[in-house]
Amino acid sequence: MICRSCGSANLKSVISLGNMPLANGLLKSPDEPEETYPLDLVFCPECSLVQISESIDPKKIFKDYKYHSSGSQTMLKSSADLVERTIRERGLSKDSLVVEIASNDGYLLKNYVKAGITVLGFDPCHEIAEVAISNGIRTVDDYFNGSWGYTYKHLTNGADVIHANNVMAHVPDINDFVEGMSILLKPGGVAIIETPYIRDMIDRCEFDTIYHEHVFYYSIVSLITLFRRHGLHVNHIEHLDIHGGSLRVWAGKSHTALNEVGRDLLVDEFYTTIHGDYYKDFGKRAENIKHDLTALLRRIKSQGKNIVGYAASAKGSTLMNYCGIGQYLDYVVDNTPSKQGLYTPGTHLKIYPPEKLLEDRPDYALLLAWNFADEIMDKEHEYVKRGGKFIIPIPKVRVV
Ligand code: TYD
Repeated sequence: MICRSCGSANLKSVISLGNMPLANGLLKSPDEPEETYPLDLVFCPECSLVQISESIDPKKIFKDYKYHSSGSQTMLKSSADLVERTIRERGLSKDSLVVEIASNDGYLLKNYVKAGITVLGFDPCHEIAEVAISNGIRTVDDYFNGSWGYTYKHLTNGADVIHANNVMAHVPDINDFVEGMSILLKPGGVAIIETPYIRDMIDRCEFDTIYHEHVFYYSIVSLITLFRRHGLHVNHIEHLDIHGGSLRVWAGKSHTALNEVGRDLLVDEFYTTIHGDYYKDFGKRAENIKHDLTALLRRIKSQGKNIVGYAASAKGSTLMNYCGIGQYLDYVVDNTPSKQGLYTPGTHLKIYPPEKLLEDRPDYALLLAWNFADEIMDKEHEYVKRGGKFIIPIPKVRVV
């Protein structure tokens, strides 16, 4: 294979997690057949981008996409804060256009609509785009790409702001995608993107964030190289704690010096992520977590106690399938209505609403969305008060 960003054929292996089903491929019945694909991660020494080696048709991956961003208070708050800040910093008015790529149910754009600003969302999931449209958010139910960039460049004056949260990791034809953003952006406009940061994934051993839907794992160097190819300059970077550690990056058509945080992160990358050696012990550390987690679950079961999973997340799928722990869990709970009643990929555990946790009071709940640990444990304080315990698997297996 060649690097999907720079085209180099000189790719180095980072980790192999074995054959896996699609992490968001929830099943309608426990015996529905499912395909599996190798899940291998490779590093490009030319542009520093980390990516999966297998190419899977995105239509297969996103056809049944169930995630509603509005299901998390943390995400809603973070989006509302970002919108308030962007309106203020960019001096946006009723004449401005804000575009969001992967606008989901309108969780972010609704804040601009409230402020009277014109918006346009793109989301390939028809079902979720319909929810946004019914809430008054203009949405195109398709993948954003270069052609859509051209189309809306001609239909409008161009975008003042383009948001792309947690989508750049998922788009295989990333050059076409960034080209589309560049075309659509006004000369003085800004693209604000959020994406999980490879440094956090490696340093915190978040191997479960690797799945086929998640094609790219960005460093700053890889983002700068990619954007530059399409006439965009990275001008400001912030390091966020969400989703296990993310970058928020501001890019525009003119160049200004990076802010101090951005500079420090970038300098740090020259000692770490741009070198293949940085990834050397990642596989071993993932194996250690697998070993510790399996040993703990086996011990709990041998004491006659029961365990369920909390959150039918994609990372939960990688974790359960890689560690081979489906056999220790009775079921999974998740607050996404469209996931309830379905079965987890590979492990075939039934998904119930979170209320079942209080009804059944299992001894342990394995947290499969540790990125929302505080929010979930806060919600489930009654379960904990009544003796329930959470197992948090990443970055180190622990019981709380
Ligand atoms: P997500 O963060 O998107 O992780 P991934 O990218 O690995 O799929 O998924 C989080 C899941 O957790 C989602 O299915 C909703 C669920 N969830 C709850 O069940 N309860 C909650 O309070 C929160 C915040 C999330």
